[in-house]
Amino acid sequence: MNKILKILLQNKNQFISGTTLGSQLGISRAAINKSIKKLQLEGHQILTSTKKGYCYLNHDLLIEQEIFERLNYPHTIKVLDEIDSTNTYLKQNPLENHVIVARNQTQGRGRQNRLFYSEKDTGLYFSFMIKPNCSIFESLKYTLLSSVAVLLALQKLYQINIDLKWVNDLYLNNKKIGGILCEGEIEINSSQLNYLVVGIGINLSTSHFPSELSNIATSIQNETNIKIDRNDLLVEIINIFDHYYHNQIDFMDIYKKHSSVLHQEITVFHNHTSYHAYVKDILDNGSLLIIKDGKEFELNSAEITIRKL
Ligand code: BTN
Repeated sequence: MNKILKILLQNKNQFISGTTLGSQLGISRAAINKSIKKLQLEGHQILTSTKKGYCYLNHDLLIEQEIFERLNYPHTIKVLDEIDSTNTYLKQNPLENHVIVARNQTQGRGRQNRLFYSEKDTGLYFSFMIKPNCSIFESLKYTLLSSVAVLLALQKLYQINIDLKWVNDLYLNNKKIGGILCEGEIEINSSQLNYLVVGIGINLSTSHFPSELSNIATSIQNETNIKIDRNDLLVEIINIFDHYYHNQIDFMDIYKKHSSVLHQEITVFHNHTSYHAYVKDILDNGSLLIIKDGKEFELNSAEITIRKL
């Protein structure tokens, strides 16, 4: 990373004098000035003052190098200004260990072919690819692990507690702030996964949603007034996911503790019908263990809503 940028980022929102920068890096004031102008042209918000020097404003521009250097496992980071969908991009360019982040998605997708509203620079929209050695039936747990990674990252960085609504929704104050979309390619004969694209979308500062979403969707800033730094959040989510994934650490207890559906009466919508059931447990493969008409069933894909009795 540009060495000046690195020092400014380490001292966000504080002025650093040209003399300090010059002596730390062994370069002239003129060279510093030139580099700062270049960074400003690239979009970095840097204040300049003849008396105090330079100050990086806490603007959360996504910066590939900054993200890359803070990851605990190696990944190639690609930040795109605009794309239809980061999931679609990775499915068309199956690159393991790449993290594709978009400032804007024109066709962000959710489950059941729904659109995921992805307004420019007001959310975190990204995808990465994993190749777990498992069948399509066991892949559901990676949706749950991704939810746990988002939950733990928000808790650690901002002390925000979200709720996890099976199977892929992230909720805050009973409104949706994001979701996970995992899409796999399978080997027809064995049902083994060739790869799984994990897509995560979180509304950070979105203040207006299309009318059909305005009653159900919200953003973290709307609910808490907290400004989230996208670089910080992205790094934390990936590091947590990798830690649990590579070391095969069990995360189900955390998921269950924050599940909004466990031990609840629910309505299940499946194959054009609906029925009532009770959620007895969440199994290690990610399925719900439900009780319907006194009998136990495993549910691994369906829309559910919690019944208000
Ligand atoms: C849902 O709400 O059903 C899941 C939403 C998942 C949205 C993310 S944003 C990044 C990635 N790209 C997409 O098109 N979708 C996922």
